Amino acid sequence: MDSFLIEGGRPLHGEVQISGSKNAVLPILAATLLTAETCVIRRVPDLSDVDFMVKILRSLGAEVTADPGAGTITTRSASIRGFGDYELIRKMRGSICILGPLLARLKTATVSLPGGCVIGTRPIDLHLKGLAALGTHLVVESGYIRCETPQLQGNLVFLGGRAGPTVLGTANILMAATMAEGVTVIESAACEPEVVDLANFLIAMGAKIQGVGSPTITVTGVTELHGAEHEVIPDRIEAGTFACAAAATGGEVTLRGARLDHLGAVLEKLREAGVQLDRTRGALTIRGGPGGGLKPVDVTTMPYSGFPTDMQAQLMALMCLAPGTSILTERIFESRFMHAAELMRLGADIAIEGPSAIVKGGRPLSGAPVMASDLRASAALVIAGLCASGSTQVHRIYHLDRGYERMETKLAALGARISRVPGE
Ligand code: UD1
Repeated sequence: MDSFLIEGGRPLHGEVQISGSKNAVLPILAATLLTAETCVIRRVPDLSDVDFMVKILRSLGAEVTADPGAGTITTRSASIRGFGDYELIRKMRGSICILGPLLARLKTATVSLPGGCVIGTRPIDLHLKGLAALGTHLVVESGYIRCETPQLQGNLVFLGGRAGPTVLGTANILMAATMAEGVTVIESAACEPEVVDLANFLIAMGAKIQGVGSPTITVTGVTELHGAEHEVIPDRIEAGTFACAAAATGGEVTLRGARLDHLGAVLEKLREAGVQLDRTRGALTIRGGPGGGLKPVDVTTMPYSGFPTDMQAQLMALMCLAPGTSILTERIFESRFMHAAELMRLGADIAIEGPSAIVKGGRPLSGAPVMASDLRASAALVIAGLCASGSTQVHRIYHLDRGYERMETKLAALGARISRVPGE
């Protein structure tokens, strides 16, 4: 397994281009299963999760051509089968979003239950409840969900859960509803920009969707969808991660291609933390850092447009450098603090109390070997390593490769001393 070796203490300077969104492209690729015609997806990030989704599409019978250099994927799902194998599905939770399109297209699908992961149990009860409301007969058997429907029927579907709406659940029901008979109203739908991007692709395929980006989405079913082209939105979490890295190292970094309208809550917290943000001609420049008077902030993760859970770990790394006490409360995934213990190996002072992490910031960080536990935890450890004295080795960065396109190349271009150490 590869690791990153980081020599900390160098402020980041320069410009970084933000890649296409991982969380948008995964359901969009799944949506190409809805048509037998050719689809072309652009601004596709070169990530292992994307490679994985391509593998899944191919396992279902789709013809897929990927050109990672150009950031383009072309699919043709002329003849597909509805079986999502455990060996493929268990490796990436995002793959559950093949269920909605398979059902809509084939009226039957058998897909492995995805299982839990380190950030929490991650149930899919809301996905199943939604599909049942559309007239699907579901049986859970031997680790698989078997779904069948004579014809999906439009209905009122309420998708609010214990922690609010579900992002991939909304994606699944939205995709299924595009070809249901009649009108589907999804209440308590997720409002994330990635759901909006998926809906825009579906509309380009001929779907009739209204209200996306709000908690009530109305879908009028059509009998068939056609091929379409689509450019994926920029990754707001990658943008937020580079913003935190720039602020933490006391550097000055300009984000190119980021959608600032998708970054409201993150930028607001950075501003509150004393980070300088300048918008010019659509780009955002971040200035800040230990010498620049970082301040502690309290934050609670929430569904969009609140502060994203996918930025909690990176903000925690930044708050380790802000003198004073910050409280980070996790309301989306109950166990999402695995990075705290590793940050403490670098010298951070963090206590976990229930759903909150109490960070006493301002202590000097010193490099150490650390272990990445999940995608965003890895990013937090890289940020901390960039600020620590001496060298930090971040192990298991395959987590990071799932969701950050060439992160070490982008950081090195900003002046970081970072290299990939190939695994044995
Ligand atoms: C997506 C993102 C992930 C992000 C998360 C929350 C992708 C590929 N992944 O994951 O990066 O961290 O949104 O913004 O887009 N829940 C239920 N029942 C369900 C489904 C979810 O109780 O059937 C709960 C979850 O346990 C969690 C909350 O709802 O507490 C939100 O989860 P959800 O929005 O579904 O996350 P994902 O879509 O899996």
